[in-house]
Amino acid sequence: MTAERGLPDVLRGNNGERIESVDEWRSKRRPEILALFRTYVYGREPIDRPASLTFETAVTPGMLDGRAVRKQVDIRFEGPGGRGTIRLLLFVPDEEGKGPYPAFLLLNNRGALTTDPQRQVGSPFWPAERIVARGYAAAVLDVEDADPDVDDGHRDGVHGIFDRFDGERPADAWATIAAWAWAARRAMDYLETDPDIDAGRVAVAGHSRGGKASLWAGALDERFALVVSNESGSTGAALSRGKRGETVQAINDRFPHWFNRNYKSFNGREEALPVDQHMLIAAVAPRAVYVASADRDEWADPASEYAALLAAVPVYRLHGFNGLGDAPFPAPESPLIGERMGYHLRSGVHDLTAYDWERFMDFADAGALK
Ligand code: GCU
Repeated sequence: MTAERGLPDVLRGNNGERIESVDEWRSKRRPEILALFRTYVYGREPIDRPASLTFETAVTPGMLDGRAVRKQVDIRFEGPGGRGTIRLLLFVPDEEGKGPYPAFLLLNNRGALTTDPQRQVGSPFWPAERIVARGYAAAVLDVEDADPDVDDGHRDGVHGIFDRFDGERPADAWATIAAWAWAARRAMDYLETDPDIDAGRVAVAGHSRGGKASLWAGALDERFALVVSNESGSTGAALSRGKRGETVQAINDRFPHWFNRNYKSFNGREEALPVDQHMLIAAVAPRAVYVASADRDEWADPASEYAALLAAVPVYRLHGFNGLGDAPFPAPESPLIGERMGYHLRSGVHDLTAYDWERFMDFADAGALK
């Protein structure tokens, strides 16, 4: 499959040398891969955890019919361009003598309707009730708290707060997907401080543009034990080489703010990219990764998402895990659970549904988070 698409060899260093050990992977190849994605795709974030980071938490017990405690956390920070707040909403199961709990953190790209803190409006997009019923804490943040999803030359959001350039914005500066991934990592900074959360068992999940961000967050940040990409498609889980539906050019034309300026130079030239998306998935190894697709989501291209996952298997094998091996592309509603790797194809259109969530939690139950 790798050969068919002419993919860069994930286990060969930039200098052409073969990566033979976990040590070489960790000290050489993984850092190289992250640097390549920073330079050519998502951009370089100017700051990791700001010294100014604070958390302000409001706690409400007795939520979800008495089954959960709600926490609303304001994650605040400050930079040369001003102040920002990412609002984290969290429901933690409330069972006598249990906990700390593993958690799913969703990068919400659908706005407030899907994440009503009062739970007057339930939502399959973020089924907090089901997540809690299955023994997980449910956390969500609105990606637009970190950076509004508009092409404004990266003036607003965390770019405006932290960027300081003499002259033109560099071609490898961070863009919007990287800002959302940064937000996920700041949420993790909070989760690590919460005694009700088992920070060693946290999944970061996202749908579509949110899934591109969850993959980048999970690739960068080894604190996430599980990374879930739902229908993230172009420049998410799907290989760019040989991809159907949305191409590099198509995504750059419609969403110029998502990726850095260097990425635009690969419009119509996918074969020239120094990376492909199997390398992003591989950067998660040996932590668990789950990719989901929908059979009528041709824009995202399920076959290319699955091909990327299988092309990351050699890196899992290097670590002693078989991933999904060489399992054939599955039929709809036939989830695959392998070693540290899972996949399902759902029938239907582009969406994040109750079915998808139940499968993510099956995978977490099967070992990824339990
Ligand atoms: C558009 C875009 C995709 C993206 C999707 C979404 O369709 O082209 O790349 O994943 O929006 O976020 O739902």
